[in-house]
Amino acid sequence: MTRPLVVGNWKMHGDGSWLPRLSAIADMAAATPSLDIAICVPAPLIHRAAALRPAIAIGGQDCHAAPQGAFTGGVSAAMLYEAGARLAIVGHSERRQAGDDDMAIAAKVAAAHAAGLRVILCVGEDAAQREAGTATQVACGQLERGLAMRSAGELVVAYEPVWAIGSGQIPSAEDVAPVTAGLRATLAGLGRPDVPLLYGGSVTAGSVAALMTDDALNGFLVGQSSLDPDSFANIAVAVQQACSIR
Ligand code: PGA
Repeated sequence: MTRPLVVGNWKMHGDGSWLPRLSAIADMAAATPSLDIAICVPAPLIHRAAALRPAIAIGGQDCHAAPQGAFTGGVSAAMLYEAGARLAIVGHSERRQAGDDDMAIAAKVAAAHAAGLRVILCVGEDAAQREAGTATQVACGQLERGLAMRSAGELVVAYEPVWAIGSGQIPSAEDVAPVTAGLRATLAGLGRPDVPLLYGGSVTAGSVAALMTDDALNGFLVGQSSLDPDSFANIAVAVQQACSIR
């Protein structure tokens, strides 16, 4: 059975004074031993976060597609790995909005895999696409194109409706189910039926139980609620509870 996974995405939050939060999250992870927990921190924090040797995985957020070169401000996947990251978030809507297209995302997925990172590939429709009834088509298309380079490596897929990210608007399990079913079918067609599938977008402890009634889901990608260790731990506990009654 696929182990449930809860990943925090700190985005551009946190400095050295936040390291104790990681220790607190790692300590609280002991209360949810049936889950895998990871936190994706800003690149400058990765080395110090990993040096704490926390009982959770440390990830980066995004990577460059090239292994090295004249790319001012770029961070390669191998650099993330060497700093101590074991995961990378690729295709997040905030990166897509900043210019990453499907080809760039596919190249980043392959680069991250080549460096040994577990890739969290984010997909999801925007408000207009949901309104138009194309949410499943959009998310599945992004998934297929993101994996176009067919790299071998660990994969996680995060379904994140763009309109739900940071908005406090949480879709119902009924809204989510057709999309997650489509993503599961796409993954099966690609020969990857066991890939964990996460939901992301305004997740709080209170929204976990309803969403986890969708059997296609294995956990969550959490932004805002991962910044506070107590809120994040409450989500992990809620996921463990939801899994235990499945
Ligand atoms: P949010 O972010 O939980 O703050 O909506 C989720 C994400 O962007 O991954």
